[in-house]
Amino acid sequence: MKSWTHVDRIVAPSVLAADFSRLGEECSRAIAGGADWLHLDVMDGHFVDNISFGPAVVEAIHTTNDIFLDVHLMISRPDHYIPRFLKAGADLLSVHVEPEAKHDITDSLATIRAAGCKAGLAFNPSTPLEAVLPYLDQIDLLLVMTVVPGFGGQEFMPEVMPKVKEAVRLREERGLTFHIEVDGGLDPQTAPTAAAAGANVFVAGSSTFKAPDIGEAIRAIREA
Ligand code: DX5
Ligand code: ZN
Repeated sequence: MKSWTHVDRIVAPSVLAADFSRLGEECSRAIAGGADWLHLDVMDGHFVDNISFGPAVVEAIHTTNDIFLDVHLMISRPDHYIPRFLKAGADLLSVHVEPEAKHDITDSLATIRAAGCKAGLAFNPSTPLEAVLPYLDQIDLLLVMTVVPGFGGQEFMPEVMPKVKEAVRLREERGLTFHIEVDGGLDPQTAPTAAAAGANVFVAGSSTFKAPDIGEAIRAIREA
């Protein structure tokens, strides 16, 4: 079910943690387990020191599943690739604010929205909230990295929570409605901390796909 805001706490399993030799079955398993969205981590080996997958994989997942695809572009020059990910069937495209991403952020966000896709802006643990403030009225989702991007299975960084709290305050103050997504190290133990800070979209890779029962893991994060 492709839905944007049908629940108050959205759980988005990250397929980076899935068994890539059975990606189709893994997506079906996450959906059967109650995933609200699927989080697709695109890495280019330049913006982050890892390479994952590109538009062809996003398209394969899009054509074989009916679920909201939250595509996280950890790439430089996302503007060059946005059209391909739109064509591939992304429902949300998040781009990074850091200068190393080398794009015009307002242009990228506008291009994404003009195509009818939701637009997200992501920023790393070491990037101050001030970096994203000029764009808050141009986004549908703020992606707050709670690990250094590039790999799954890292420890949640609670020191990032003040940025979530301040983003919630500014969202209210400015009358905006963007989702606040936390991404990295989320599990039933860390989800309450992120929820208390005000996040409402929870990306979870290792804690869902590597759990004995993905449905139980998703429920535990949603109810934590
Ligand atoms: C890291 C990615 C995250 C990661 C989450 O660069 O953006 O989405 O896959 O995986 P876990 O939940 O294992 O930290
Ligand atoms: Zn991600």
